[in-house]
Amino acid sequence: MWQGLIHHYYDYLPVTQATPIVTLYEGNTPLIPVPRISSYLGKKNVQVWVKYDGLNPTGSFKDRGMTMAISKAKEQGATAVICASTGNTSAAAAAYARRAGMKAFVLIPDGYVALGKLAQALMYGAQVLAIQGNFDQALSLVRELAEKYPITLVNSLNPYRLEGQKTAAFEVVDQLGNAPDWLCIPVGNAGNITAYWMGFCQYFQQGKSQQLPRMFGFQAAGAAPIVHNQPVTHPETVATAIRIGNPVNWQNAIAVQEASQGGFYAVSDQEILTAYQLLAQEEGIFCEPASAASIAGLFHIQDQIPEGIRIVCVLTGNGLKDPDNALASGQKQLCQGIAPERDILAQAMGLLG
Ligand code: F0G
Repeated sequence: MWQGLIHHYYDYLPVTQATPIVTLYEGNTPLIPVPRISSYLGKKNVQVWVKYDGLNPTGSFKDRGMTMAISKAKEQGATAVICASTGNTSAAAAAYARRAGMKAFVLIPDGYVALGKLAQALMYGAQVLAIQGNFDQALSLVRELAEKYPITLVNSLNPYRLEGQKTAAFEVVDQLGNAPDWLCIPVGNAGNITAYWMGFCQYFQQGKSQQLPRMFGFQAAGAAPIVHNQPVTHPETVATAIRIGNPVNWQNAIAVQEASQGGFYAVSDQEILTAYQLLAQEEGIFCEPASAASIAGLFHIQDQIPEGIRIVCVLTGNGLKDPDNALASGQKQLCQGIAPERDILAQAMGLLG
């Protein structure tokens, strides 16, 4: 039985017998082929899969990092944790902190966190502090607080976060039998791209894969500091999860790009929303807008795709996190009355010739 990623990848992680494992049995998420998207790329024998990390216990990849960060915090005797978040980190920190019997404090940019994520943080009993600023400002604040007070920071500056997140790369290799040729991933603070690369390198060095992937990171056009090589003071995008103007792991991200011969590109909100709908309507996979940046990005650089390669796109979060964007992208049809005429319904459904 799967008992969480620390249990499964124990020998690859900085844990010992002294580490109390705090887990919600995260990880082991599916790698799903997306044949229609593969065919839309119009390249011969190109196969695309999505690593659907929205199926983790709190609905995002953050659970991978949080099982490690909270287990280590517990081992070190912490009683409270803190993070800044665009939403998903706060949901995961809140859930794992409660699982460990700790308090969680989360700072979020007021008005820019998707509804489901806020609901989660509140439901898991975190103390939610909404600031009149963006994620970057919230992060500076929590860094100062964690330096000054006895509270453990669980943003991706915490090295255990990346250790946990690297297991997603292990799973991809275990599922495919090798590393893919390309990995496409949305980028905000650039922790996850750094963690994936750590995982791919570690597995490669252990002889678990025959190659390393090229790593392609995608930022939203209104929040693309790495792409433009300069911080963005007022980041804006529909993909609020990656609405970040000054990523903490910037230098790591550049190192990954160079080592893997990959690239960073910006995708517009329109490209993101198109990919978001395409995934749901053509493949039956509902992710949140930020996650769709990996698919949007793949289409953005489709001219560069060589024939015959295998590509994995990371879907970082579940679509249910962000009901507002989902509702805005479709329209329900109102049928008159509580028991409308069957013929009227059939007509609305286009069943009557
Ligand atoms: N996708 C989703 C759904 C996210 O929530 C995030 C980051 C990213 C991608 C980008 O990952 O920062 O490692 O490059 N969310 C953070 C949060 C910032 O607070 O939940 P990254």
